[in-house]
Amino acid sequence: MEAIARAHTNIALIKYWGKRNSQLFLPTNSSLSITLDHFYTETKVQFSDQFEKDSLLLDGNQAADKEIVKITAFLNHVRNLAGTKTFAKVTSVNHVPTAAGFASSASGYAALAAAASKALQLDLTGTELSALARQGSGSASRSIFGGFVEWQKGDNTDGTDSFATQVLDEQAWNVSVLSVVVEAGPKSVSSRDGMQRTVETSPFYEGWLATVEEDLKLMKEAINDRDFTQLGEIAEANALKMHATTLGAKPPFLYWQSATLDVMQKVMELRQQGLEAYFTIDAGPNVKVLCEPENEQMIKEKLAALSSVRDVIVCHPGPGIQYLSDWNG
Ligand code: DP6
Repeated sequence: MEAIARAHTNIALIKYWGKRNSQLFLPTNSSLSITLDHFYTETKVQFSDQFEKDSLLLDGNQAADKEIVKITAFLNHVRNLAGTKTFAKVTSVNHVPTAAGFASSASGYAALAAAASKALQLDLTGTELSALARQGSGSASRSIFGGFVEWQKGDNTDGTDSFATQVLDEQAWNVSVLSVVVEAGPKSVSSRDGMQRTVETSPFYEGWLATVEEDLKLMKEAINDRDFTQLGEIAEANALKMHATTLGAKPPFLYWQSATLDVMQKVMELRQQGLEAYFTIDAGPNVKVLCEPENEQMIKEKLAALSSVRDVIVCHPGPGIQYLSDWNG
């Protein structure tokens, strides 16, 4: 009883920021992302009656107990669906730039959900798989699908209508996402803790909630019309708004470091010079820059020339879940 799956990371253009139910990972707002071709996680899950507990080998290292507790809680969802109590051995490798703070819970839980459910022969639909992955990490619900993906927040209290669907497949519209790795120290607040603190204490969170559905609507229009300018403007404004909520939290916090601002300012400067580019930032110091493919090399060079930039990796829309027959690690 084993299976191997690969899932790619994603970058949100409309951010998931806040939960209405932390146990079930139900978000306060719907979100929309692009699955990225360059960064992914491969995970093998083996279930066996020989195992006395769950184990996790992550990037070649035995995971700490704290991590195993999370994996066991997630695997329990899969075991409940399959009606089994058998323990699992999980082996997972992240194909992301090392030491860049890119290790992603999105690709991690999407790959784990896919491999574990397949190993137990659950034969889930994409939607069911997305709802399952969501319960490991919210953004993982979107990594089940390729291209442009929307995670509908849903209304049900049990979460049955909170899952992602594909808006456009990865071939339908080629935009470039430059992944800018900056010189920065480790982040001190995880996305999980950061969003919770913001929901509970930031007076600016109301402003986020009041406008995010409209942002999402305009983003879907931009995608439908292949309107890159609208996509970029809405994505950048939505990211800035999300980060603004953290400044009002108690205690306040900020994911940006000085290198983050260097990149943001450079992007604005390039735009003033007529080179169209927009930024978005997740819960950390690195920046993703959106541009059209014909400009990607030029913009990459300009960003890579900044002294605070360590690396720029050019990404495009990538595929959804893939099942593999061989383990390459
Ligand atoms: C800022 O999915 O990492 O990247 O559900 O608590 O695991 P948990 O949070 P996570 O949060 C991602 C937040 C974000 C925005 C986004 O990806 O939409």
